[in-house]
Amino acid sequence: MSNIFLVGTHWGDEGKGKIVDVLSDRADACIRFQGGHNAGHTLVINGVTTILHLIPSGILRDNCKSIIGNGVVVSLSALNQEIESLKKSGIKIDTKLFISKNCHIILPTHVALDVAREQALAEKSIGTTGRGIGPTYEDKVSRRGIRLVDFESNIFESKSSDLMSYHNFILDKYYHQNKIDIEKAVNEMRVEYEKVKDLVSDTTHLVNELSSNSNCIFEGAQGTMLDVDHGTYPYVTSSNTTLAGLLSGSGLNVSNLDYSLGIVKAYTTRVGHGPFPSELNNEIGRNIAKWGGEKGATTGRDRRCGWLDCKILKESVELNRINGLALTKLDVLDNLDKIKICIDYGDINYQTMSTPNVKYIEMNGWESPTVGINNFNDLPLNAKKYIEKIEEICETKIAIISTGPDRRQVISRDDIFAK
Ligand code: IMP
Repeated sequence: MSNIFLVGTHWGDEGKGKIVDVLSDRADACIRFQGGHNAGHTLVINGVTTILHLIPSGILRDNCKSIIGNGVVVSLSALNQEIESLKKSGIKIDTKLFISKNCHIILPTHVALDVAREQALAEKSIGTTGRGIGPTYEDKVSRRGIRLVDFESNIFESKSSDLMSYHNFILDKYYHQNKIDIEKAVNEMRVEYEKVKDLVSDTTHLVNELSSNSNCIFEGAQGTMLDVDHGTYPYVTSSNTTLAGLLSGSGLNVSNLDYSLGIVKAYTTRVGHGPFPSELNNEIGRNIAKWGGEKGATTGRDRRCGWLDCKILKESVELNRINGLALTKLDVLDNLDKIKICIDYGDINYQTMSTPNVKYIEMNGWESPTVGINNFNDLPLNAKKYIEKIEEICETKIAIISTGPDRRQVISRDDIFAK
């Protein structure tokens, strides 16, 4: 048995969904532990695309249990929509999906506050997904949040009404926005809860039992630089996306963790606002965005593109105790004659978003297709050199290379479950 932690090394959208899908072939469980439906994990199986926001990517495998751990914030309506659309595609849910009773729920007022706050911040906004993630985590930390377990103790109605009254006060008096109809919201959430209540349980014990006896994948959402403590604060999400978040958000006994797999895209992207030292505001950046289909899976926003930032990659390796990397979207760079790797820069200025002394090394591109290649030796020489250079800079092996969106388009250089 072996337990693998999958973490995005930069600002999310590294292609974690696809790698989870590839590995879940041999996994008994797949566990989400932070974030919520701000995530968008895209999977392509036999040409059919599925985008998951809240449910772990392992759900598409018949023999893989899917667990939404206590650290995830849950929108009941988004959860039910996702369940319904998976069921329509013939995916079995009922005996496979487990949701922690300690998950905090996203109220309609959390969404309204998220949107109102972003509007008020105007050009200084974070560029959130507008899903209510930040306000829900705020209420969790301030100990007034609403958890799934509250539905069972008859305090849900009064507790959530009180909290939404407080939110409505801020919406009305501070942001001058419309208030949310509390009675309607409470009734709707009760209806949504009844649909999933049989899936709700204490998942901490289940996580530790499964991770002691079988193969588990812990699926991080967002990426290391969006971590509320270690990322590009304040342009971050509101959870710990790194190794620490895995432990608090699932209850995993740390000694059961065998392997941290960092997911790194062959170039770097960011969606939302905030600093991005290696960003390409030119034709190359626009071409990479076009070739890579770089549009947000959750909000449809254009992703900003730039050269691979290896300064961040090295930090990610250190922070997450990364044992090996999965390099994704290598094929997107197939047409470039020159490729740069960002290796260093000075301190980021958060007022101007500028970064002094950004240093690159330049390499020759391979200018030939790598799409669908399954064997490392079949890659063009310059593609191998690019991969080996990244390994050298961050002193970490690239164990998996993804050469296209489909689950079959992959090069496996290491048997990660055997580690
Ligand atoms: P929030 O998580 O909606 O509060 O958004 C905070 C920041 O995280 C924004 O810059 C979002 O664009 C970014 N973000 C949140 N979820 C994702 C994701 O799954 N992929 C990439 N960026 C994300």
